[in-house]
Amino acid sequence: MTSTNKNESANVVVFGATGDLSIRKLFPSLFQLFLNHSLADDLRIVAVVRAELTVETFAQRIAESCLKRTQDRSQFDAFVKKIDCVRMDIGNVETFAALRSMLSDTVRSIFYFSVSPSLYGAITAGLKQHGCINTDSRVVVEKPIGHNLETATQISNELSKSFDESQIFRIDHYLGKETVQNIMALRFGNAVLEPLWCAERIQSMQITVAEDIGVVNRGPYYDHTGALRDMVQNHLLQLLCVMAMEPPGQLNPASVRDEKLKVLRSLRAIQPSDVVTKTVRGQYVASPDRKASKNYLQEVGVDPCSQTETFVAVKAEIDNWRWAGMPVYMRTGKELPSRASEIVIQFKDVPHKLFKHTASHLLANRLVISLQPEESIKLYLNAKTPGRGMTLQPVALNLDLINSSPMRRWDAYERLILDVIQGDLTLFMRETDVLAAWNWIDPIVQGWIEHMPNPEPYEAGTWGPVAADQLLAKDGFIWHNPGRYINDMH
Ligand code: BG6
Repeated sequence: MTSTNKNESANVVVFGATGDLSIRKLFPSLFQLFLNHSLADDLRIVAVVRAELTVETFAQRIAESCLKRTQDRSQFDAFVKKIDCVRMDIGNVETFAALRSMLSDTVRSIFYFSVSPSLYGAITAGLKQHGCINTDSRVVVEKPIGHNLETATQISNELSKSFDESQIFRIDHYLGKETVQNIMALRFGNAVLEPLWCAERIQSMQITVAEDIGVVNRGPYYDHTGALRDMVQNHLLQLLCVMAMEPPGQLNPASVRDEKLKVLRSLRAIQPSDVVTKTVRGQYVASPDRKASKNYLQEVGVDPCSQTETFVAVKAEIDNWRWAGMPVYMRTGKELPSRASEIVIQFKDVPHKLFKHTASHLLANRLVISLQPEESIKLYLNAKTPGRGMTLQPVALNLDLINSSPMRRWDAYERLILDVIQGDLTLFMRETDVLAAWNWIDPIVQGWIEHMPNPEPYEAGTWGPVAADQLLAKDGFIWHNPGRYINDMH
């Protein structure tokens, strides 16, 4: 995966350069790579814009987000010298000629489609018609790829008319997060966990990706998408794959992605008739306790009668030898109490409770992997409370990922963009992975249409609808809310 010592020349062409993602993430990440000396001196960035923009005016648009990385304005000015702007109307194939004249046949072109998937076909056709694509080119596309299996297949077909699978980099930025990679290190770099990593030893797994913000300025996109498609179809399922995959034979794209695909294909289908017992969907409403919170239905760009979910919880099961019988509970939502992404492995209890008289509330061991805001991996073990008697308390063995290394943390996009430049596909999704994920998601959507058309309201600042607690309660579990492990235990 990513190394910083190999500078590869390229023309990075960003379609949708003035969009939200480009301004907040792509250009600041490219700038950071520039600051790290990870970009080749002759690497050029072409910002494709719709309006008549000079490089100077474009630079003003990205300045604020880039300058969060350094106060050194001269570095930013040097970075801007790498950028050219080209005005294009994607619908008009003739405008591709201007772009073509900026690309060299001897330097690799990387096309970053930071635009709606509905434009992929037109862009790919325009690039092809003007001879911008060759066997060396690469294309980067963002999740969610499609709206369902059918549209994802159409997008795949469109891309594959011009690009070979080895040229397509499908980004799921969760796979670029430091801790997600650390899960691989933890699982496959240590022997102690492997015998415990199975349904025989683990009672349940929970994956929570919580956000404390609403839809902010992405109302139209979000209202069309919803939490299931925006987060579960990609980020949460990818986290599940990394947690549940078999050890790959090698650390190369084919081996890693083959193992992840097997997990997706082993997921037990949630039939439309199962959604009532296996899923929860919610939509936030304003809370007097959360300042400035609004009803989702009052957000800008949201249909006032919308039935789009801003919260989802799902009980998944993996039908394979290692995981049969162990439930995986996943949940994600907007306007939850805090921004926190965590994976919790709840191990099974001791077979005989020796300390039941002195420590009756003691819970079984658990492994808590925090992705954000802090990165940490903690294994909670029960230890004796100092003093007389045999009272026990949970104590965390803390793999302190922040203080154990003074190295700067890489943002997911920095890592992934550099992987694209260097041609490393390990952390990107394949067509088969995307389609397998939709194959699991589509019946849930169908079930919601048939059996649960209305999302349940939940107050901003809470952990979602009451039904989310009931989903676990009926199996005898509770959610492990981030940051409250010790309290949960009593
Ligand atoms: C994006 C979703 O993929 O991930 C957003 O479209 C969400 O709705 C975001 O807010 C969360 O990413 P992160 O890295 O901030 O957890």
